[in-house]
Amino acid sequence: MNTYKALVRPWLYRLDPERSHHLAERLLAAGFPWWPAAASRFVDDPRLQVDLGDLHLPNPVGLAPGFDKNGRALPGTLKLGFGYVSVGSVLPRYRAGNPRPRIARLVRDESLVNDYGLPSEGVSAAAKRLRRASRTTPTKLIVNIDGVSQSDYLQTFPILQPLADAVEISTLCPNNPDDSGDLQSPAGLNRLLTDLEPIRQSRLFVKIMADGPGPLSDKTLALVETAVRHGVAAITVPGTWRVMDTRLARGSGQNSGRMTFPTTLTIVKQLYEITGERVAIKALGGIATGRDVFRVIAAGATTAELLTSLVYEGWAQPRRLARELLALMAARGIPSVQALRGSQIRLDA
Ligand SMILES: Cc1cc2nc3c(=O)[nH]c(=O)nc-3n(C[C@H](O)[C@H](O)[C@H](O)COP(=O)(O)O)c2cc1C
Repeated sequence: MNTYKALVRPWLYRLDPERSHHLAERLLAAGFPWWPAAASRFVDDPRLQVDLGDLHLPNPVGLAPGFDKNGRALPGTLKLGFGYVSVGSVLPRYRAGNPRPRIARLVRDESLVNDYGLPSEGVSAAAKRLRRASRTTPTKLIVNIDGVSQSDYLQTFPILQPLADAVEISTLCPNNPDDSGDLQSPAGLNRLLTDLEPIRQSRLFVKIMADGPGPLSDKTLALVETAVRHGVAAITVPGTWRVMDTRLARGSGQNSGRMTFPTTLTIVKQLYEITGERVAIKALGGIATGRDVFRVIAAGATTAELLTSLVYEGWAQPRRLARELLALMAARGIPSVQALRGSQIRLDA
């Protein structure tokens, strides 16, 4: 039985989605209720190990940025069995984000629409929690940064890079009305990555926004090429896009969850065809089952990260996905996740 779905989720559904998010964050901040069984949440199997650039992961299932924006939930998230967890997006200063309501559920589609607009407690609060995080599990830590201008990234990057295993740069938050859009041009992204070069000591990942449902445009592929030229270790292009939703204060937001998976798969295939082994691909958007993880990795991804399916399926997600992936690989004689990557092996419908 899935305890979360049977007992916890019905209570969370009674709250508005943002309040349930904060409640989940507070429970995880207290390490509750996972700490007594933390060790058993990890599927410890060498076949699952994978290298994201030179970052060695115990398994390919990660937590995407946005769930734990300020590092509050780390006492819990680091123990759930993820290969890595992302904190962020972190901004240099406090930022309130967009007016509420700014998140809505699409329950039948196991999807969400969010228009958070990058609320952040600021870099000092996140840095304090990252410094304090007790890293007793094999889970790696990635911190995602965003900003409204290039100088925002240049402020947060040096503070956060010693505190995590990698820093991920989000080039655009589609919900942020203040974004200058500077990093949406190859020249703008090139300038930021060039400015970071002299101070860059940690692994760097880049997260780029897709264009909408379907494959990436040449403009977005030009951003990917810019990032690859600068030697970033991994690229993420989530298969999400903007949709109308009258329940939200501003009438629209970015979708996420099951409805985005077909686009995620298309993007991973397209990116792998173009970049091959030149860069790792972190698949993101609608990943909810071990089959999804198998399919994106076979299509060329190195890891599969998620946010929305944690909301719908609960804390057993990382362990469940790792186990399902292992079973699918074993049934097909695939010796490891590394061997599965880019194999283009198809699962029967
Ligand atoms: C509530 C919510 C908040 C998010 N906040 C951020 C964020 O702060 N920074 C970021 O890069 N992505 C953010 N995202 C996007 C996710 O990282 C991810 O790209 C998207 O949700 C698709 O993955 P999923 O279908 O597994 O949720 C957020 C998504 C949701 C649902």
